[in-house]
Amino acid sequence: MKVNYNDSIIILLFSEIYLGNADGYVALSNEGFINIEKPDEKGISAWHWYSSPNIETGEVVEHNSGEFHVPNLPSYTLVDSLNFNLLDGGFGFLYILKYDETKGSPVTKDPNLQYWRIYVSFLKVKTDLPTKPSLLYETTQKLNNITLKSCTLTYYHAEGYICVMTLNNTITNNNNS
Ligand SMILES: *[C@@H]1O[C@H](CO)[C@@H](O)[C@H](O)[C@H]1NC(C)=O
Repeated sequence: MKVNYNDSIIILLFSEIYLGNADGYVALSNEGFINIEKPDEKGISAWHWYSSPNIETGEVVEHNSGEFHVPNLPSYTLVDSLNFNLLDGGFGFLYILKYDETKGSPVTKDPNLQYWRIYVSFLKVKTDLPTKPSLLYETTQKLNNITLKSCTLTYYHAEGYICVMTLNNTITNNNNS
């Protein structure tokens, strides 16, 4: 479809492809687009990388596919995850693990136990394997919840990404919380 808009022509391509389970993250980058499924209960998240639509036909082909794996930490449970676009056309995968007292020893026994951990892994252009997960944040505080909000490219100090998360904590003071 070609549309005139203020003397310029915008070409809209339409194409229909089967994405499999698209109940996750679907995003375009300048290197095509990706479908990253929601992580399953084992913390495995399948991804499929497709080409950009062909400019004549709108046709899209699958480039490659693989999986993101949350580190195998038996006493932790996956709570939340977030995907975001990278400047080079790749994708980031951020996720939160929470210590689970039903799987490990009670938190009160070890004051240095990291109750929450946040990791990031990157999927670069034309690679089959995401990078090894890096620990971004951890806290010994037994918060109610941590929620990931967004990650955006920034040039504030140098080229990089700023991610926003919310920490939900209950503070009790004179029996008021
Ligand atoms: C924060 O956590 C408490 C306790 O789990 C919950 O009741 C409340 O709705 C949460 N607040 C927000 C803004 O998520």
